[in-house]
Amino acid sequence: MGRAFVYVILGGGVAAGYAALEFVRRSGDSRDKLCIISDEQVAPYERPALSKGFLLPQGAPRLPEFHTCVGANDELLTKEWYSEHGIVLVLGTRVISADVRRKTLLTSSGETISYKTLIVATGARALKLEEFGASSSDVRNVCYLRNLGDADKLVDVMGSCPCGKAVVVGGGYIGMECAAALVTNKINVTMVFPGKHCMNRIFTPKIAEFYESYYTSKGVIFVKEASVTSMEISAGKVTAVMLGDCTRLPADMVVVGVGARANTGLFEGQLIMEKGGINVNGQMQASDASVYAVGDVAAFPVKLFGGNVRRLEHVDCARRTARHAVAAILDATGSVGDIDYLPFFYSRLFSLSWQFYGDNAGEAVHFGDLAPGDGAAPKFGAYWVREGRIVGAFLEGGSRQENESIAATVRHGAAVPDVPELGRRGLAFATQA
Ligand code: FDA
Ligand code: NAD
Repeated sequence: MGRAFVYVILGGGVAAGYAALEFVRRSGDSRDKLCIISDEQVAPYERPALSKGFLLPQGAPRLPEFHTCVGANDELLTKEWYSEHGIVLVLGTRVISADVRRKTLLTSSGETISYKTLIVATGARALKLEEFGASSSDVRNVCYLRNLGDADKLVDVMGSCPCGKAVVVGGGYIGMECAAALVTNKINVTMVFPGKHCMNRIFTPKIAEFYESYYTSKGVIFVKEASVTSMEISAGKVTAVMLGDCTRLPADMVVVGVGARANTGLFEGQLIMEKGGINVNGQMQASDASVYAVGDVAAFPVKLFGGNVRRLEHVDCARRTARHAVAAILDATGSVGDIDYLPFFYSRLFSLSWQFYGDNAGEAVHFGDLAPGDGAAPKFGAYWVREGRIVGAFLEGGSRQENESIAATVRHGAAVPDVPELGRRGLAFATQA
């Protein structure tokens, strides 16, 4: 049994939703030409909501409220939207093998789906503690967070231990955002991670110190430079987490966020891989011309970094690479150039909110007041300077205009003749440029 489509999007996450919208905008009627295959049961949604609004004790949004493209103030693409536009959604269906040469995909239901052009948007999966040698499988109160099912479980587990103790393993995005959500749900949090400070992929020690102090003031305990070796389990539930130095942390629940891996497995040996993802050119086209890759799974050249190939696991990148791939695919005149992407990451933690643009390479120059305040909304940041130019910028508590200003400063690679003066001028360097 089988079906054939002109375009197939493999994966039904953020990138798939934005790609679908772009198809409709550019080609009008996609009736029966476009198919999205996803192993999730629901139409594409804004994944960032899962670690933020979704976990609120009150007024938490539920689908259909956060289907794509609500985060970008665009249309809300519900299941009905896809059907109105003739886009075939194949949900709850896993693709188990891909044959790039024959242009076919085999699904878990035994169907072969063929395509002329494939967009791979399989995203990433959460790394398991097992991959670091500590067992956590099949335990009712150990939570990972990648999809809606995980988020539902996390909400249930939080509800099962009011005022209880949670151990959060990992000090990255998931760890920090989930710790904030747990505290908001009145759960006591201990965070454990191997690094010297939280968010070590992006924060400087000074920036991390601010957030760690803020979290400490909310009751969070940090156990740094530590790793989980095992868990005490009783009646299918974790009761304590054991660390390498034999510390025992009692736990009513555990949340794990120890990184992600791009879902490239279907294409290993068939497409060129780089930086843990599928290598694509500036049109998001892979080493086989009929395949494009977008979002977390795509490793693409960033013009701003001199064409250096990056794989970025962030929502803005998923949205923009998806749109660019569709523009390139439907481009009859050859007018769509290579993507010119300014990397953009953000997070919201308690009432804090930061944005980052560009690259955190070179010398970091901090500005503003990094001491946790007495109730006043904090505003501080950092620029990264390399070879006399700004290559990255971070801002906590910025207004929309201020965030746009730091983005523009990075985009233009503003010249920095005097580094100490940059620190003194701080945000004004960007806003008064
Ligand atoms: P995404 O993971 O969204 O979608 C991949 C889809 O493919 C999924 O539906 C998956 O089930 C499906 N799939 C995979 N293999 C398949 C197969 N073999 N067959 C069928 N389907 C398959 N970023 C940010 O910038 N700011 C933020 O605040 C957040 N917050 C955030 C919270 C949480 C909880 C997570 C997990 C992630 C974030 N992110 C984020 C990251 C952001 O969500 C992420 O970069 C995008 O979702 C990537 O979009 P993709 O479409 O590439 O993958
Ligand atoms: P991450 O890479 O941000 O952080 C992983 C953390 O786990 C790091 O602190 C690391 O030191 C720690 N770690 C690694 N091995 C460990 C171990 N054995 N024991 C304890 N800690 C260990 O990854 P994440 O937080 O799991 O996020 C997963 C994915 O979700 C990423 O792609 C991320 O970009 C995405 N995400 C992004 C946002 C956002 O952009 N605001 C929010 C949530 C999730």
